[in-house]
Amino acid sequence: MAPLKLGVLGSGRGSNYRAIQERIAQGKLDAEVCLVIADNAQAPILELARGYGVKAAVIEPGSFRTRLHDHAEKELVQCLQAEGVELVVLAGFMRILKAPMLSAFPQRVVNIHPSLLPKFPGLESWKQALAAGENVTGCTVHYVDDGIDSGALIAQRQVPVMERDTPESLHARIQEAEHQLYPDVLAGFAARHRRGAMAAPRFGW
Ligand code: GRF
Repeated sequence: MAPLKLGVLGSGRGSNYRAIQERIAQGKLDAEVCLVIADNAQAPILELARGYGVKAAVIEPGSFRTRLHDHAEKELVQCLQAEGVELVVLAGFMRILKAPMLSAFPQRVVNIHPSLLPKFPGLESWKQALAAGENVTGCTVHYVDDGIDSGALIAQRQVPVMERDTPESLHARIQEAEHQLYPDVLAGFAARHRRGAMAAPRFGW
């Protein structure tokens, strides 16, 4: 069975993408990243992809701030389909996806979010957790729907909040957990793919 084909979408740094490539290189994730697409040409994730010898592309998002124009989203779908992508992996992609993508890849678009959803959806969730006085926060991998961080949960990892935490120190601790959790979850998808059964969400991987 060929490795699970991934398409990664990002807007920024790409540290989660790096963790995924590293897990593949260690032989512990039976997947291949076919292409990385960003919504801006300055996103460092593009350079990272090129460094791994992975095709990197930019999609011009159009004039909306938080989503893609329909034609841009259709073009995005075509790029992913042309590479035979089986699972779309959002790694810091800062736009809400709509029908063109979600109907082309039903239950095949996943995201990682820096909180224990459904708590603290949206931006800078670590700051939200600090402001709320939480003792524990974490990260969540979930299916993507057309809301904001509202799709079915797949897996979570907890992270303690320390008394002396700053937003930066807490964010860094959450990101460390993300870099373990996301490749773990993708390895679960790859195992299902090998068994010919990559299907429905099941919380608790
Ligand atoms: C991560 O913290 C993720 O939870 C959020 O966006 C951030 C992306 O970071 N969705 P990176 O680009 O993977 O470093």
